[in-house]
Amino acid sequence: MNGLYSDTVMEHFTNPRNALLEDEASFGADARGLTGNIKCGDQMLMLLKIKDDVITDVRWKTYGCASAIASTSMLSETIKGMKIEDAYKVKPEDLVAKLGGLPSFKIHCSVLGDKALRSAIDEYLEKTGRKGMLKEESSVICHCLGITDKDIEEAFHNGARDWEALQQATKIGTVCGSCKEKADEYLHGLEHIYS
Ligand code: FES
Repeated sequence: MNGLYSDTVMEHFTNPRNALLEDEASFGADARGLTGNIKCGDQMLMLLKIKDDVITDVRWKTYGCASAIASTSMLSETIKGMKIEDAYKVKPEDLVAKLGGLPSFKIHCSVLGDKALRSAIDEYLEKTGRKGMLKEESSVICHCLGITDKDIEEAFHNGARDWEALQQATKIGTVCGSCKEKADEYLHGLEHIYS
């Protein structure tokens, strides 16, 4: 353990796997996903090479923090050689566990890579005539960051019970903030259903 971070986090942070060092065009990706907001300083780009629906290579680039870098590095190793439908199901919690944990206020940084990955796979499915094949039915609550009711539900199941905890888990509302009322309502609804 090195202060806040596990040795595995530090190792991935100082030696990130599959980071994009070449320019994007020379990697020649089959699919591209971009998520986050540059204004918040945490944009994430994910590039995939895919053959017969298997991810054969991956590159990523982020302006995020140590946690975002380490978790995306771990994600990139995890998904190489995976079928796209299995990669689509990889959850930030799986990566956090593989990293030996992250400080709770840093968990939200690990969701960016996973979102960029799913957006790249969605783009690939659309290009190959299978638009939305893996997408769960969900509706977007925070339009600035593409956060859906499913994301809120997942955060709820991981312990988020109020707006602050929901923001920690998802970064919801950190751009224009206009989604707060709707998100709060949805969160309270979940408490009624599950409590
Ligand atoms: S709609 Fe959620 S921050 Fe703008």
